[in-house]
Amino acid sequence: MHFTLAQATVDSGIPSRMVIDDVNIELIAAGQPAPVHALSTGERTVADRLGKGARIEFLRGRAAQNTALAALCLDTDTSLVRMPHRSHSLTHAGDIAVSAYTSAERVLGIGVDFEPDAKVSADRARFFLTQRELETWPDVLQPHHAPDLLRLWTVKEALYKATADNDALTVRDFTVNEPWAWSGIATLGSRPDVALRYVTTVARGGYLTVAAVLAPQMAAAAA
Ligand SMILES: CC(C)(COP(=O)(O)OP(=O)(O)OC[C@H]1O[C@@H](n2cnc3c(N)ncnc32)[C@H](O)[C@@H]1OP(=O)(O)O)[C@@H](O)C(=O)NCCC(=O)NCCS
Repeated sequence: MHFTLAQATVDSGIPSRMVIDDVNIELIAAGQPAPVHALSTGERTVADRLGKGARIEFLRGRAAQNTALAALCLDTDTSLVRMPHRSHSLTHAGDIAVSAYTSAERVLGIGVDFEPDAKVSADRARFFLTQRELETWPDVLQPHHAPDLLRLWTVKEALYKATADNDALTVRDFTVNEPWAWSGIATLGSRPDVALRYVTTVARGGYLTVAAVLAPQMAAAAA
C-alpha cells in the first residue's frame, strides 16, 4: 500500500456509504493529490505526460482509487487496473476525486458519477434520454426540471461505468424505468439480462449517483 486511508479522505460533503438493495457501497473522497514519491512506475509514466491541471486531477484520482484498492485488499498499483472494474469505480469533480467500492460478491459491476454544479440543457438531454424515458416523463425537458436533467446525467454515467464491456455503448443505451425516482432499476437495451440498479443523493449542491450490476439471483430477490 502506498499511503493510508486517512491521508486520502477529506471532509468533503460526500457520504461515506450508499446502499443499493442492501448492498453497502463505500465511498472515498480524496482532496489531496497522491504524493509523487508514492506512485508506481506505471503511474509515474502517465503523470509525467500530463500538464499541471490534468496532473493534479490524475494524482487526486490515484489517491481515491489507491485507497479503494487497499480496502479491497487488491494490488494498489492503479496503472494495472482496467475500467470498468467489478468492484470499484472513480469520478473526478471540481477539487475532489471520489471512488466507490464494494466487496459484495453479488455485485458484478459498480459505477459512480458526481456532478457538483454542471448545467444540462434540454438539447443535451435529448442526446442521453431514451424515447421511452421521454414518453414516461413528458415534461422532463421543461425548464423547471433542469436539476432533474443533471441528476439523470449522473445516473446514466454511473450506469455506463458499472457495465462490463462498455466500449461500444453510450449512455443512451440505458433506460431508467422511473426517471423521476432517486433510486431504482435501469435496463440496457442490447442486454436485457443485465440487472442494473442505482441510487442518487445530493452532495455539495450537486448530485452523486452510484450504480451496480447485480447477480441475477440477487436482482430477482430484490424485485
Ligand atoms: C468514460 C466516461 C464514463 C468518463 O466520465 P466523465 O464524467 O467524463 O469523467 P469522470 O471524472 O466522472 O470519470 C473518469 C473516470 O472514469 C473511469 N473510466 C474511464 N473509462 C471508463 C469506462 N469505459 N468504464 C468505466 N469507468 C471508466 C476512469 O477511472 C476515469 O478516471 P481516470 O481517468 O482518472 O482513471 C465518459 O467520458 C464516457 O465515455 N461516457 C459514455 C459515453 C457517452 O455516452 N458519451 C455521451 C454521449 S451523449
